Amino acid sequence: MTVTFIGHGYVGLVTATVFADFGNNVYVIGHTKEKIDNLKKGILPIYEPGLSELVKKNLGAGRLNFTLDYSPGVAESDVVFIAVGTPPISTGDADLSTVLSVAEKIGKNLKNYTIVATKSTVPTGTNKKVQKILESVKPKNADFSYASVPEFLREGTAIDDTLHPDRIVIGTNDKRAQEILIKLHEPIKAPVVITTFETAELIKYSANSFLALKISYANAIAKLSELLGADGVKVLDGVGMDKRIGNLFLSPGPGYGGSCFPKDVRALISLGKDKGYTFTLFEDVENINYQMRREIVIKSRNILGDLSGKRIGILGLSFKPNTDDMRDSPAIDIINLLINDGAEIVAYDPIAIENAKKIPLSINYAKDEYDCAKDADLLILVTDWNEFKKIDFKKIKTLMKKPNIIDSRNIYDPENLKKLGFNYVGVGR
Ligand code: UDX
Repeated sequence: MTVTFIGHGYVGLVTATVFADFGNNVYVIGHTKEKIDNLKKGILPIYEPGLSELVKKNLGAGRLNFTLDYSPGVAESDVVFIAVGTPPISTGDADLSTVLSVAEKIGKNLKNYTIVATKSTVPTGTNKKVQKILESVKPKNADFSYASVPEFLREGTAIDDTLHPDRIVIGTNDKRAQEILIKLHEPIKAPVVITTFETAELIKYSANSFLALKISYANAIAKLSELLGADGVKVLDGVGMDKRIGNLFLSPGPGYGGSCFPKDVRALISLGKDKGYTFTLFEDVENINYQMRREIVIKSRNILGDLSGKRIGILGLSFKPNTDDMRDSPAIDIINLLINDGAEIVAYDPIAIENAKKIPLSINYAKDEYDCAKDADLLILVTDWNEFKKIDFKKIKTLMKKPNIIDSRNIYDPENLKKLGFNYVGVGR
């Protein structure tokens, strides 16, 4: 089949490359010349493990075409996926301007019969707006069906998630579109949920929000455990062993971040509000989440007293390991709160420093974890990168001014660090 993706972010680029690898002829359309020129050379705008090699392989095989032009890709395609960003605006609603503007360009370039499908997470109801645009601008003899095929991939494990998803959701009432989309996804062995557009969209929002809820639940239990003197990590381990609950997404920490959970929880609250429903459950999920950032600062004050002039090393900047994505990363809030208290910040991340530098943060960057610990009064682990698990703490202790560590992801053994002479503080422990 011939398939076009509009957008080359985590969703667009990964899914396009995987579909090319299945043997499809794939167009990827962007709007920044520099990024498209780079992609043609195999230089990616994002960091995702394994993706660079897969892009190069499929570029070499002539199955991946990066372009700024909607023609001929859209006209030749069986399916055109919209995979552009829908960042939140100040009200919490998703910004649909890019989705709507690309819909117009797709519509103008349609020919014969094409399925236009959204991969971007868009609020229920957007389908009507997009269909109206496609209908009003398309050439007379062109025909299309509209579908929602939400994406569930995670950054850092995006290729594997695309190849082995828990389910494929296809939202369209049109039988012909259902058949073509099922055929396109045939190489992926997963249960297929066929449903309406509205239901497909709400599956995506509801799944992400539930995972965010699980994390906020874990964070609330961790906080309560600290207050009661219980071991929150053990509590959550014990809870997660119940198969009805499951142990995934139950790790307490500095709160969820990234481009999906914060945005989708806000959008769900806002969707409810539009219909007169106050989704207090998710308002609490958000409150608990952002309180976790503040908790790190409270712990820092408990250790150091006045933070003014204190040197604090931050290990990890991206919102989670194996990505350079800084969107809604807990590190940003934590750093800004510490700076407000007068602390002097030095930070290190294995991959995300270049992206962090695009955010106005008044901090210094270290060249590695040891450089970050040098003369520090406190070291805070924010992102659980694998390389931080192998740190030589004997060496770190000789470098730090005071051996204080806050382990916001509970990756270290408290007893080991205490034996080495560290003042160790985790989350829920
Ligand atoms: C998420 C969804 O998992 C994915 O299905 C959807 O398509 C996009 O959004 P992603 O944002 O890439 O994926 O990352 P994910 O691994 O889900 O982590 C999200 C955030 O939750 C991170 O900040 C992570 O550190 C945090 N998290 C995750 C926890 O704090 N505790 C956990 O137990 C799990």
